Amino acid sequence: MKPLLWTVVVFLLSLSGTRGNGVLFTKHPSNQTVSQGKEVRLGCAVEGVTEPDIMWIKDGEKLYSTDQVFLTLGEQHWETSHSVKSVQQQDAGQYWCEVEHQGQTFSSDRAWVTVEGVPHFTEEPQDVAVFPNTPFNLSCSAVGPPEPVEVLWWLGGVQKGDPKLSHSVLRVPGQSRRGVSAEHVVL
Ligand SMILES: *[C@@H]1O[C@H](CO)[C@@H](O)[C@H](O)[C@H]1NC(C)=O
Ligand SMILES: *[C@@H]1O[C@H](CO)[C@@H](O)[C@H](O)[C@H]1NC(C)=O
Repeated sequence: MKPLLWTVVVFLLSLSGTRGNGVLFTKHPSNQTVSQGKEVRLGCAVEGVTEPDIMWIKDGEKLYSTDQVFLTLGEQHWETSHSVKSVQQQDAGQYWCEVEHQGQTFSSDRAWVTVEGVPHFTEEPQDVAVFPNTPFNLSCSAVGPPEPVEVLWWLGGVQKGDPKLSHSVLRVPGQSRRGVSAEHVVL
C-alpha cells in the first residue's frame, strides 16, 4: 500500500477504537450469569478524564444511581461499579458504561447479565377421566432459565422413570384402580 492510504487506514482505526481525545476504557464490564436473589457487580474504568462522570446504561437507558462510588486509580483514571444487591429477572439485560468528554460520548464494551431463577411450569397435567384399563397420556412442560429443565414424574406416590427433558409426556398404561394421582417435579 502507498503511504497516503496507510494514513487514511490509521486515521479510521483511531476513530473506531475506544481511545479518542486520550479517553481510554481500562476496564470493561463482563458477561455474568447469576442466580436470582444474588448480588451482581459490574465494573468500568476510564483513563484520560478529569471529572469522573461515568454513566451506566442498561438496554439503552441511563441508570440513575444515588450511591455510585468513584475510585481513583491514578491521575485522570477512575473506576466505578454498578451493583444490584438482590438480582431479579428484570435486571437481566445488556449493560455498558459511557463517559462524555469534550462533547463526545465514549462507550465501553457491552456485557450481558443473565439471571437464573426457579423453573416454572408452562403446562401442567390435566385431570383425566378414563375407563378402567384404558391407557392415557399426561403432559408437562417447564422452562428456565436455566435451561435445560428436566421433569420427573410420580404416579400414585411412585417415581416413574428417570428425569426427562421438558416437554415431557407420561404414558400411563390402563389402570384398574380408581383414582391415581400424578405428580411432577422439576429439577
Ligand atoms: C457476552 O455474551 C454475548 C451474548 O451471549 C456474546 O455474544 C459475547 O461474545 C460475550 N462476551 C464475552 C467477552 O464473552
Ligand atoms: C400417547 O402419546 C403417544 C406418543 O407420545 C401416542 O402414540 C399415543 O397415541 C398417545 N396415547 C393417547 C391415548 O393419547
